[in-house]
Amino acid sequence: MAGGDPGPGGGRSLTALTGSIEHRPCRPSGVASRLTSMDVAVIGATGTLGRLIVPRLEQAGHQVRALSRSTGVDALTGEGLEEAVAGADVIVDTLNHLSLRPDPAISFFTRAAQNISRAAEQGGVRRIVCVSIAGAADPAVNRFYGYYRGKAAQEQVYGMLRTPATILRSTQWFELAEMFVAMTTLGPLAVLPAQRMAPVAADSVAARAVRAIEEADGAADEDRVITVRGPEEMTTAPMVRRILAVRGELGGKSPRRLLELPFLGRSIARGGLVPADAEVDGVTLEDWLAAAA
Ligand SMILES: NC(=O)c1ccc[n+]([C@@H]2O[C@H](COP(=O)([O-])OP(=O)(O)OC[C@H]3O[C@@H](n4cnc5c(N)ncnc54)[C@H](OP(=O)(O)O)[C@@H]3O)[C@@H](O)[C@H]2O)c1
Repeated sequence: MAGGDPGPGGGRSLTALTGSIEHRPCRPSGVASRLTSMDVAVIGATGTLGRLIVPRLEQAGHQVRALSRSTGVDALTGEGLEEAVAGADVIVDTLNHLSLRPDPAISFFTRAAQNISRAAEQGGVRRIVCVSIAGAADPAVNRFYGYYRGKAAQEQVYGMLRTPATILRSTQWFELAEMFVAMTTLGPLAVLPAQRMAPVAADSVAARAVRAIEEADGAADEDRVITVRGPEEMTTAPMVRRILAVRGELGGKSPRRLLELPFLGRSIARGGLVPADAEVDGVTLEDWLAAAA
């Protein structure tokens, strides 16, 4: 496995598509890049990433089933799931459940992935593409962060299936800055997690997800791991400071003092979330800020 990334589970052989580091934008998806229209079920279609994946798939000429609880599909209870994915070519799991504690996170991601896997097998789905987090499956990284342990459990379920799986591991998104500020600001002070990252634009990850889906067309039945990161390394405070300097506020908050404390663990503070080997997207924080202006 390239970059020392643990695979999603002890299932079949894994092909890491983590290429050598090169500074280039992820290639956008387009009609010219594929041979056939695919039928894709996106579970978590209303989320930050799902909302970016769905229009990209539609623009590329694919049929999209946009699924979430708001469309009557609950991956945790299984309600509506089998009917919703039956006959799809690919399922994309871009679900989320934010819990800092391990038990609820592990329970959610395990049960949802098991339900999705069962529905995929029954419905003849050819591949599942699961969006995950670079480094989260590493026990040294997830030791003090229950959410990441949930993501590790999710990868493990998908690594043990009959249905081939692609795990698309991304670094943190620039969009995450808003949540950091919302959760850690009290008055003028934000106490941010000390976290070394190589953040990436969510839209670049959506583009890479669409390519991963299209790569399922005619692909061999093996599991794959793809890792994508942004072009620069930084910690949370400089990232938040650079965004605040342009926007003035984040989610209605404008802390003036930013502190970093290693409450997610020393491994995360020291760079455990920065993949050693990954595809490097070319969109910088400044590009992202300029595009959103
Ligand atoms: N944020 C980052 O920096 C980052 C980096 C790397 C990877 N990721 C991963 O990317 C994935 C997507 O994250 P996101 O921020 O886009 O998530 P998000 O905005 O929180 O959206 C979550 C989606 O899941 C749906 N959902 C939640 N529970 C559900 C259930 N029981 N059944 C069906 N649908 C359900 C939600 O819709 P309803 O509420 O309508 O059901 C929503 O569409 C996550 O797995 C995350 O770990 C995130």
